Amino acid sequence: MSKLTPETIDWSNLGFSYIDTGARFRAKFTNGAWQEGEIVSDNTVTMSEGSPVLHYGQACFEGLKAYRTKDGEIQLFRPDQNAKRLVKSAEQLLMEPYPEDKFVEAVKQVVQANEDWVPPYGTGATLYIRPFLYGEGDIVGVQPATNYTFAIFVTPVGPYFKGGLAPQDFLVTDYDRAAPQGTGAAKVGGNYAASYLAGKEAKDAGYADAIYLDPATHTKIEEIGSSNFFGITKENQFITPKSPSILPSITKYSLMHLAETRLGMETIEGDVYLNEIDQFVEAGAMGTAAAITPIASITYHGEKHVFYSETEAGPITQKLYDELIGIQFGDVEAPEGWIQTVK
Ligand code: PLP
Ligand code: COI
Repeated sequence: MSKLTPETIDWSNLGFSYIDTGARFRAKFTNGAWQEGEIVSDNTVTMSEGSPVLHYGQACFEGLKAYRTKDGEIQLFRPDQNAKRLVKSAEQLLMEPYPEDKFVEAVKQVVQANEDWVPPYGTGATLYIRPFLYGEGDIVGVQPATNYTFAIFVTPVGPYFKGGLAPQDFLVTDYDRAAPQGTGAAKVGGNYAASYLAGKEAKDAGYADAIYLDPATHTKIEEIGSSNFFGITKENQFITPKSPSILPSITKYSLMHLAETRLGMETIEGDVYLNEIDQFVEAGAMGTAAAITPIASITYHGEKHVFYSETEAGPITQKLYDELIGIQFGDVEAPEGWIQTVK
């Protein structure tokens, strides 16, 4: 098969898969300091067989997107927030954090180097940006690395869940992805390896993904394998789970702000009991990859609960989507500081 190029790719039919764009960013932490990063072409990495990332999962990552605007500019959505969260994730695993200002600079550098891969406005596609950090070196004991690599690759993507704004069915799983006092709030590799089995069982059974319950009592909705959960009540409230073991989603905090300031909604982070989901007239998944995906239904132990509709997005979900996506693609005015342009 011939290699995809920005000239041959079908932007409107992209899924969420890896495409080698030819340019990525790499920086090394050695001898106690971050070395100057650079753009390289090789998409492989080499490291010592003793590297803690290989044995003990000393790795964390981020996910953000570059958007092409109507007038051809390229913009990033709140990259400073990803920079901050990567520092937090790194600290949880005793890794050397990559400095926040250098993170944003590196993101801009790698997007610029892959400028032609930023999908055209109007296709709905974006350039997904995957920064990651891992520990390496000649180590065998259970201890943190002294050497690290910070890297970023990019890949053009379409919707994470098939069909974009088409409502999706989810399966509530009995597995836990992270412990209450564990790493759930950090974006660390191990959380995702721990979610493979639940995700596979859900997908094999025809669902879009798994929904996790709180690991301590299994009575409250936590989050989805790749995104946070929200529900809308008929009292115009936006309710989303509060838990130490879910990822603090940048999309969630952005939507809460927009729901309050632009849609006049009340927003609540709190307990979302599974036996109280009748209160929601609409529900959705939110995240960078997922954007806003309406939840058609959730199924728990064979019982299916349908929210607004199995075929259409609800009106509030649609409004939230229009506001957020409008901001990201430059069609709607953004709150101060949310957008950074690449060039
Ligand atoms: N929850 C999980 C488990 C995720 O992987 C993601 C994706 O990053 C999110 C939530 C959403 O976070 P964000 O909105 O920052 O992308
Ligand atoms: C993201 O939305 O960036 C994620 O990390 C979700 C998933 C692809 C792991």
